[in-house]
Amino acid sequence: PALIDTPDGRRAWVISRYDDVVQALGHPGLSSAVIPGGMLNHTDPPEHTQLRKPVARAFSTRRMEALRPRIERITNDLLDAWETEDEVDVIDTFAYPLPITVICELLGVPERDRNEVRTLTSELMAPETMVEAYGRFALYVQNLLETKEPGDDVITDLRDEPNLVQTLVLLITAGHETTVQLIGNGLLALLRDPAVKQRLIDDPILLPDAVDEFLRLDGPLALGVSRIATADVEIGGVTIPRSSQVTVSLGAANRDPSRYSDPDVLQLGRDPHVAFGHGIHYCVGARLARVEGEIAFGTLLRRFPELALAAEPEWRESFIRGLASFRVRPK
Ligand code: HEM
Repeated sequence: PALIDTPDGRRAWVISRYDDVVQALGHPGLSSAVIPGGMLNHTDPPEHTQLRKPVARAFSTRRMEALRPRIERITNDLLDAWETEDEVDVIDTFAYPLPITVICELLGVPERDRNEVRTLTSELMAPETMVEAYGRFALYVQNLLETKEPGDDVITDLRDEPNLVQTLVLLITAGHETTVQLIGNGLLALLRDPAVKQRLIDDPILLPDAVDEFLRLDGPLALGVSRIATADVEIGGVTIPRSSQVTVSLGAANRDPSRYSDPDVLQLGRDPHVAFGHGIHYCVGARLARVEGEIAFGTLLRRFPELALAAEPEWRESFIRGLASFRVRPK
């Protein structure tokens, strides 16, 4: 752990070694309640335990696996448009619409609201508009809860749970800002490594391994997750004083050379990573994201084995690691 000056003038501890990150994410003295308001990911036990249980049940492995045919259909429909194009932007035409469609259908967000949800989400992700956008997002969700007919969806399953508005804002945003980058960042890594790309074309059984290696190498939350010390906490032999702000760097842990040899290289079959976090806040959507990733990469490689970069992509400026534009040639 090291104490650093942040660009916005604060002092924060950064935890970057793999073992220290795992220890920190399991430490009861490092609280997730860095923002008030009762959103699931910013609560601690016992409140967290109560809020998480029904959400975890709604995102069960069985339900996520059962979505495969529908996700394949959405994927193929989006990629049909690539058949007649010389060049496309991966983010706009595929990486973004796929997870947003999936999460909205799963939750029960009506199709006509998708654009509004997209705008609200991107405003919520930008520091300048965040606070005001949260208010509008909460109003949108409140209104949806009052008007929506019950159905076979997650909103209906969770309708009587406490803090439902906060949970739904979290599920809508977490459910699409991250998987977009898994698809974008992963595809970039793949197009830069023709040998791995060919291995996946020849042997699609390796797809789940590849998805995890994309997440290790360039996970969307590489910058990390925030905690606040509620007591003096010892991590990796260093004492972090009570009330300190702490950034737990998932990306640094995922490239820790003492755990991963040649950490900057794409290599299938590595040890597990922390791109989905660790411990009690471990990502509720991990199964869904992996299923979407497997289907996205599997379908892309099967339909467009000659897929190639059309231009050098641009990384966007955001706390979520991802590409602003990413142009490829499908054939
Ligand atoms: C929590 C990453 C996709 C919903 C987390 C955490 C990470 C993460 C690192 C832990 C945060 C912490 O410890 O403070 C990712 C990545 C994804 C992804 C890399 C895609 C590649 C999703 C999806 C959903 C989702 C698709 C929606 C269903 C959540 C929720 C939590 C969470 C609700 C809070 C869990 C809790 O606090 O107990 N995610 N996520 N995530 N994620 Fe994801």
